[in-house]
Amino acid sequence: MDIEQLRQEVARITAEARQSAGEAVSLQALREIRSRFLGKKGSLGRLMGSVREYPTQQRAAVGQTLNQANKEVAAVFEEAAGAIGSRDAAAEASRASAFDPTLPGVRPPLGNVHPVTSVQWEIEHVFQRLGFTVEAGPEMESDYYNFEALNIPADHPARDMQDTFWLANGKLLRTHTSPVQVRTMEKFGPPIRCIVPGRCFRYETVDASHETTFHQCEGLVIDRHISIANLIAVMKLLLREVFRREPKIRLRPGYFPFVEPGFELDMSCLICGGRGCPTCKKSGWVEVLPCGMVHPNVLRAGGIDPHEYTGFAFGLGLTRLAMMKYGIHDIRVMNACDLRALVHPSRLTGPTVRAGQ
Ligand code: FA5
Repeated sequence: MDIEQLRQEVARITAEARQSAGEAVSLQALREIRSRFLGKKGSLGRLMGSVREYPTQQRAAVGQTLNQANKEVAAVFEEAAGAIGSRDAAAEASRASAFDPTLPGVRPPLGNVHPVTSVQWEIEHVFQRLGFTVEAGPEMESDYYNFEALNIPADHPARDMQDTFWLANGKLLRTHTSPVQVRTMEKFGPPIRCIVPGRCFRYETVDASHETTFHQCEGLVIDRHISIANLIAVMKLLLREVFRREPKIRLRPGYFPFVEPGFELDMSCLICGGRGCPTCKKSGWVEVLPCGMVHPNVLRAGGIDPHEYTGFAFGLGLTRLAMMKYGIHDIRVMNACDLRALVHPSRLTGPTVRAGQ
């Protein structure tokens, strides 16, 4: 090629080198590209070797053109290497700064005691301060303690009020914590001041406020001269301590064969503020504390003389009380192993938490 063609070829090679160097993604790749242009067998390198093929009088000009191009292309690669080097250094620096060992770790969600357990402990604490003992009884109970001893003989219609899981061995799953009343009378005799928190079981249709497995807390006081006034005072104190304010309550007659007279103590529904909702069956009131004066037949069954001693008893619906306290809308959440119920009860509030979600 003549000198003019050589100049054009050199310009083309320089432009191609500039473009290829700009596309290199690593220093290694850049080195390979560089040798394609500047290496002995590279496009510029080969031209350098061809200087001797030109007439003597043109060699100086050819050499000058090629040296100039060689310098220019070398500078292009040097510049590209600098750019890749500083880009790699910036990426490394940002990787290093993404890890900050002084940042606090990710806190795993902390568990908590179940809302029912939490309320149960609170109630135990209140009653222990009043000198009550905390008693327990079997969940697999006999017909005698669950019904007979509580003045509910086999043919009594009151048995229908507590649908029962009967077991193949003739026993049953206790339908309430009341069987522990007579068990405690037999064990200690009067005077008695005790509470009995525990699980109960009923063959119920499950809805927002009924479960087949739920908790109650029985209370029993037996001594001389115990009256309804004592009963009401203790009930009020209990609710005041649990809710840390005076809850609105109502006392109405209630029938339970093991108390006479018997009452239903309802509290204004704290879920809806008494306006009516599925939890309170639209009545604005929730039954939490059936109670009454211990029936003489029950005292007799426990070996206590009803002429000498009187007493009161109550059967607090512990699960429903926990629902009221923590604003839990649906009782089904309680037994659903729903972590939201265990992480913190307050997370259960609000319309988003429903059973089965
Ligand atoms: C009784 O079980 C009586 N043993 C209570 C009692 C004790 C009365 C001592 C007098 C003297 P009742 O069936 O109403 O009564 O249940 C008591 C409480 O347990 C209810 O007010 C309610 O809060 C709760 N409860 C009853 N059935 C269920 C259920 N299926 N699911 C959730 N809570 C229930």
